[in-house]
Amino acid sequence: MEQELFESVDEYISDLFGYEDSVLKGTIKSMEAADIPAISVSANQGKFLQLLARLSNSKKILEIGTLGGYSTIWLGRALPPEGYLLTLELEQSHADVAHKNVVKAGLGNIVDIRVGKALELLPLIEAEEIGPFDMIFIDADKPPYAEYFEWALKLSRPGTLIVADNVIREGKVLDDDCTDERVIGVKRFNKALAENKQVSATIIQTVGSKEHDGMAIVVVNS
Ligand code: SAH
Ligand code: DHB
Ligand code: MG
Repeated sequence: MEQELFESVDEYISDLFGYEDSVLKGTIKSMEAADIPAISVSANQGKFLQLLARLSNSKKILEIGTLGGYSTIWLGRALPPEGYLLTLELEQSHADVAHKNVVKAGLGNIVDIRVGKALELLPLIEAEEIGPFDMIFIDADKPPYAEYFEWALKLSRPGTLIVADNVIREGKVLDDDCTDERVIGVKRFNKALAENKQVSATIIQTVGSKEHDGMAIVVVNS
């Protein structure tokens, strides 16, 4: 019952503020056609990420977990023409779909999709000295979230905004007996985040068209 209400209100908000143009709608369709799981951020979450990118005056963004490029496009649209968005994806098939969507969005010159395990790509990115990034969005596989956070810090400067999706998992983070590796992964991340003196952070719960979850919002201290 509550889920129905959350969905209706999500629709109300997205009708007002979360407009999906044909490119964003087409991105979701292209994922359905390619049998890619429907685990993109929602329209309102995409808009929220876009606002955060603008608020942080981001010119250089790192995304970990591209999927079909849906969040990539919301974020990419916050960037100036000389901006840069590097996004990391394990699955070549996801990256191929994302690439087509990003080009359709006119973001082909701004978005760089790299394929591989994020934990193997991140050291290469550090060596290339592409960073520091202004904003980092963590949204790949959940077990190594704490390691992604460590890498995010290495690729940050004071003031960098780090956002991590799916850190509440329908409240399963409250269950100390939960054996789901994804839940264990985000709990480990949340604890490391809370204890880390280099950052200031909180988590906002998210409800709506997607299941109850949460996003961690983090700023790197000076
Ligand atoms: N940010 C996307 C959703 C990402 S879903 C959006 O909101 O639109 C998570 C993605 O992370 C999937 O495409 C999955 O293939 C990818 N992934 C899983 N394990 C990974 C790894 N080790 N390194 C990089 N990407 C990974
Ligand atoms: C999953 C991953 C996501 O990034 C998400 O937003 C929802 C679910 C998952 O792997 O279950
Ligand atoms: Mg997610």
